[in-house]
Amino acid sequence: MCGIVGYVGFRPVLPVILDGLKKLEYRGYDSAGIVLFGQDLSIVKKQGKIARLEQELAGMQLEGQMGIGHTRWATHGVPSDENAHPHLDCSGRLALVHNGIIENYLELKTDLLESGHHFRSETDTEVIVHLVEEKLKTRPSLLEAVLAAAADLHGSFALAIASQQYPGRIVAVRRESPLVLGLGQGENFLASDIPALLPYTKDIVILSNNQVAELTREAVRVFSMDGQELQPEPVRIDWDARLAEKGGFEHFMLKEIHEQPQVIKDTLVGHIDLVNQQILLPELPDEILSKIRQISITACGTAFHAGICGKTWIEEWAGVPVEVEIASEFRYRQRPFLPDSLAVVISQSGETADTLAALRRFKEMGMPVFAITNTFGSSVTRESDWVLTTKAGPEIAVASTKAYSTQILSLLLLALRLAQIKGSQPPERLQEITRELQRLPLLCDQVLQLESRVQEYAYRLRTLDDYFILGRGLDYATSLEGALKLKEISYVHCEAYAAGELKHGPLALITAGKQVCLLATQNELLAKVASNLKEVKARGAEVLVLAGTNGSVGLEGDEIWQLPATFDLFSPLLAIIPLQLFAYYMAKEKGCDIDQPRNLAKSVTVE
Ligand code: G6P
Repeated sequence: MCGIVGYVGFRPVLPVILDGLKKLEYRGYDSAGIVLFGQDLSIVKKQGKIARLEQELAGMQLEGQMGIGHTRWATHGVPSDENAHPHLDCSGRLALVHNGIIENYLELKTDLLESGHHFRSETDTEVIVHLVEEKLKTRPSLLEAVLAAAADLHGSFALAIASQQYPGRIVAVRRESPLVLGLGQGENFLASDIPALLPYTKDIVILSNNQVAELTREAVRVFSMDGQELQPEPVRIDWDARLAEKGGFEHFMLKEIHEQPQVIKDTLVGHIDLVNQQILLPELPDEILSKIRQISITACGTAFHAGICGKTWIEEWAGVPVEVEIASEFRYRQRPFLPDSLAVVISQSGETADTLAALRRFKEMGMPVFAITNTFGSSVTRESDWVLTTKAGPEIAVASTKAYSTQILSLLLLALRLAQIKGSQPPERLQEITRELQRLPLLCDQVLQLESRVQEYAYRLRTLDDYFILGRGLDYATSLEGALKLKEISYVHCEAYAAGELKHGPLALITAGKQVCLLATQNELLAKVASNLKEVKARGAEVLVLAGTNGSVGLEGDEIWQLPATFDLFSPLLAIIPLQLFAYYMAKEKGCDIDQPRNLAKSVTVE
């Protein structure tokens, strides 16, 4: 949802800004722009991806000691060169980039027009730069003018602002939309997300809400909105910069699918007591776990699907009732809760606007919140009572894969730890499961070996435009996530259905030659799934069966993909992999932009 980068220091500025923007391209990619401050101010903006901006810049000799850049995901105003950031004030000496939405921009614009300001774009962002210009008339410094302007803005924003009048100085502001600062020697950085900074520094200050920073080559100073200087605590990030590179894979998505065995292994670290073969959940105190009578999960997109999977595990294994609700629905609804309820929010980025709003509603209602997130220092992390940080590492492809696996693994850990604490399962059974859990990375590796078959299947179905994925129980959650992957990146229409619900409507869509995937990993439900298979075969559908431990017993699929033998409860962690691969290869067959699908952004920080 827009990425911003800023640099002040001794390196050639343009490569630092462009490199940073490329790392943030997952946040939005309909236009991009840069501004460099040297003898002159140089600004270049282009509709389209960063590659187009780069083409435009090729051959230009741009100089500067500092610069800012932006990659856009349009909200106000179509993607165009004019609407691309940075935006300039009337003097053409003050430049600004923005991530977020200014809710009162129309009122502000009316006032600014009356004061004689001249606007060049249709964006909400442009009002900010004129507002700062206006404040500069009566304020002694850029910092004070920005503080005064920020006080007039309603909405969410991360800003980077610099001026020819104040050389060597960038002012950055954070309200809601994320912003991190990178600390160097004789140089300093800012960005919307950490991967943009990793090639240069691992010492990061994560700005909090309503904080303002002033960056020069020598120093980074942080202030509250009322101008009080603060002493932020830098954190050292242990991510390797190579994690944000493609590492020989054609796309980030494929690389991230292949990283699943490793990230599962990493997420398990610290969660298993090897001596007693028990699950550990140090992130959530046992006193809380023992009291819980109800759990309410909320999230968006893929994280919501993780929640559905978690519900099945928690209810079956720990006997605790669980509600799962989409965050954008939950936040505008009245819902009663039993005493001793726990709220669980799930978010890869930790910055999704609807999930954050839901979290805040839980807090208003007095509910304790446990967060599962992949982003240390994110808003979700800061506002929750307890946090489990998944170890997926940076996920760059817009379609989530490895983050999903670590989210569901975290929910499985929660379910099993709850079962242990509540005594809802025989201890020997839980020990057996804990032992098998440690084989998961190996089992995921085995599933990845299906890749060439998946690729052939995608090739055979390359003209596909309509697909069905059916499953029962845990397989239903997997079918939802598998269908989302296919829609997101290959643009193939896909319906995920609880297999038993098929006859209540969607069966009308099954005609000769329709392609169906049937998930059959749950032994207890095999007989039921077998009748669903007959139902669709009888209407002429071609069926791919994703089979679990009992294989294809009694199931006559046209194509059968066999998962390795393990306990049925682990199947969501395995069965999703071939579905992710199928979406990937189908998108490739169709020539889609896999890592940056149309109309989507990875981190949706506006409503
Ligand atoms: C966007 C992304 C999805 C993601 C969802 C929730 O829609 O495109 O991939 O699942 O946001 O994101 P979060 O960061 O909260 O998990």
